[in-house]
Amino acid sequence: MKVLVTGGAGFIGSNLVEELIRRGEDVTVLDNFSTGSTENLESVRGEVKVLRATCSMIPKLKLSKTELVFHIGIPSSSPMYRENPLLVGESINEFIKVFGLAKKNKAKIIYASTSSMYGRCKPPHREDMVSEPFDYYTEARVAMERLARVYHELYGVNSVGMRFFSVYGPHEKAKGKYANVVSQFIWNIREDKPPVIYGDGTQTRDFVHVSDVVSACLKAAWADLGCEVINVGTGKSTTFNRAAELVSRFFGKSIKPEYRPNPIKNYVYHTLADLTKARKLIGYEPEVTLEEGVRRLVKEG
Ligand SMILES: NC(=O)c1ccc[n+]([C@@H]2O[C@H](COP(=O)([O-])OP(=O)(O)OC[C@H]3O[C@@H](n4cnc5c(N)ncnc54)[C@H](O)[C@@H]3O)[C@@H](O)[C@H]2O)c1
Repeated sequence: MKVLVTGGAGFIGSNLVEELIRRGEDVTVLDNFSTGSTENLESVRGEVKVLRATCSMIPKLKLSKTELVFHIGIPSSSPMYRENPLLVGESINEFIKVFGLAKKNKAKIIYASTSSMYGRCKPPHREDMVSEPFDYYTEARVAMERLARVYHELYGVNSVGMRFFSVYGPHEKAKGKYANVVSQFIWNIREDKPPVIYGDGTQTRDFVHVSDVVSACLKAAWADLGCEVINVGTGKSTTFNRAAELVSRFFGKSIKPEYRPNPIKNYVYHTLADLTKARKLIGYEPEVTLEEGVRRLVKEG
């Protein structure tokens, strides 16, 4: 199948591309390399076509017929939008261009959404819960999910918004300060530096390994769903203190975290996915525990 992956040089995107290539798909990556890297695509070099471009350029690019689009190439972190709120409009306009391409090609779209959608809703988080507005990044995603529905209602474009929870795994280096805390803890502890935690470390996240995220995206792509949104987590949550302790243990070190006052306004303290819908619609079942995921990352280097 002819597959376009926007953001395919990024963390989640490149893991997805590797699996698509393993399955024999014909993959084109479109990425502006703002947080992506060529290193992330090293294992599939020569097997994918890579276009260095932003999604806003899609209408001008001569893309060959596309049957399936993974739209992952969206600025990926909330602080980016606080620094530049115009990203809200830009990422929504790019979303419209990607959906325009899908409409023209009668292609299906699987796109990155986020658990940030749940904001201050009490966990476990179900897809029908909606938070009050509190963050630029999240507002952009709310608009995207609504637009996906508009494209379905008006033109029959099928899409699935994947509400990723806290994703960690290989290929996060290029995200630097925007990487998941699990990766940040590993980078620090490997160099005998303390993991840095904002607050007292009792905040929790539903940490999900990127291989489970890739599996959910592929299941959604090959299911017949119309227009949907689906949680992608593990249904288990872990405190930052426990995550830091796990990383220390796998390195055989006992480095205590450095606690700093939390500077983030509207901070989300707890996330936890309800997986009922994911199980029902796409038969998704997370396979990698946090222990196993951390063990693999520490071992892989
Ligand atoms: N990693 C997580 O825990 C998590 C959680 C929830 C949602 N998400 C969402 O998943 C998506 C992928 O996140 P990620 O963690 O892989 O981050 P990432 O920053 O590694 O991936 C984004 C990729 O898209 C590219 N990109 C950014 N803007 C672009 C544009 N305008 N045109 C083309 N390419 C562009 C970047 O260069 C990068 O390769 C993002 O939309 C993010 O918001 C991630």
